[in-house]
Amino acid sequence: MKVTVVGAGAVGATCADNIARKELCSELVLLDIKEGIAEGKAQDMMQTATLLGFDTKIVGSTNDYSKTAGSDVVVITSGLPRKPGMTREELIGVNAGIVKGVCENVLKFSPDAIIIVISNPMDTMTYLALKSTGLPKNRIIGMGGTLDSARFKYQLSQHLGCSPADLNAVVVGGHGDTTMIPLISKATWNSAPVTDFLSKEQQDKIVKDTMVGGATLTALIGTSAWYAPGAAGAALVESILRDEKKLFTCCVALDGEYGQKDICIGVPVVIGKNGWEKILDFKLTADEQAAFDKSAAAVRSMNDVLATL
Ligand code: 2OP
Repeated sequence: MKVTVVGAGAVGATCADNIARKELCSELVLLDIKEGIAEGKAQDMMQTATLLGFDTKIVGSTNDYSKTAGSDVVVITSGLPRKPGMTREELIGVNAGIVKGVCENVLKFSPDAIIIVISNPMDTMTYLALKSTGLPKNRIIGMGGTLDSARFKYQLSQHLGCSPADLNAVVVGGHGDTTMIPLISKATWNSAPVTDFLSKEQQDKIVKDTMVGGATLTALIGTSAWYAPGAAGAALVESILRDEKKLFTCCVALDGEYGQKDICIGVPVVIGKNGWEKILDFKLTADEQAAFDKSAAAVRSMNDVLATL
């Protein structure tokens, strides 16, 4: 198995590091447009191999896509990260050109690859990847909801005083501070509804803190987060390469599911060797469906910006 991670910034490098540590593939290519950065980080990671006990071969390259040939999965993290005070949406102008170019180059050498999009604004970049490549929809996966759901479980665990591993909780909708929808009514602690153990005030705080989870970290760190985004990308690669058929929220093309068409947005999907294999119908309440429709409208208006670039 071979994986390429495009973009050797903090998110791309962390994603690659997780993939190597888990030995998800025999060869991993880390690519970046900036001279030397991917080669340097790849070597640095290779020098952890004997310490951590993995034997994935990591190759770094400055924009030589021929090195990525025959990749089974390609993770795209390229583009600018957001700075404190910026929304993910403000990155669209610069990142659209970058993501489109990366998709073209990747497919020249890996026509059968499954593509995971992490670059922001993630919903629109996923839509762009789908439209510009014309690939079958199951092979284009946006990562956002996987990360947002992990952040939701973290927030819940802090209030419940429990292990996040015992929680089932998903965030659907767009990957934006105002567009994501943490489905607290459906979240469970093992099989018990979390709402049985949380006051209304706590529930509202958990939902709010989840929605601004990325912005909170950007303000603290001074740039966009990377540990959880990188790990979320690697978790999707793992489910694909090991055909785990795990359920993640991912940004995928809808064709009538959740009442939406011609849009890529976060819904619960099964991830396996064919990419996203099935959308699960979580039977939203009327309020949740209204929030989902509002989120879809916001994502769609962002997608409309693509035509003006
Ligand atoms: C985040 O939420 C990178 O969009 C990403 O941290």
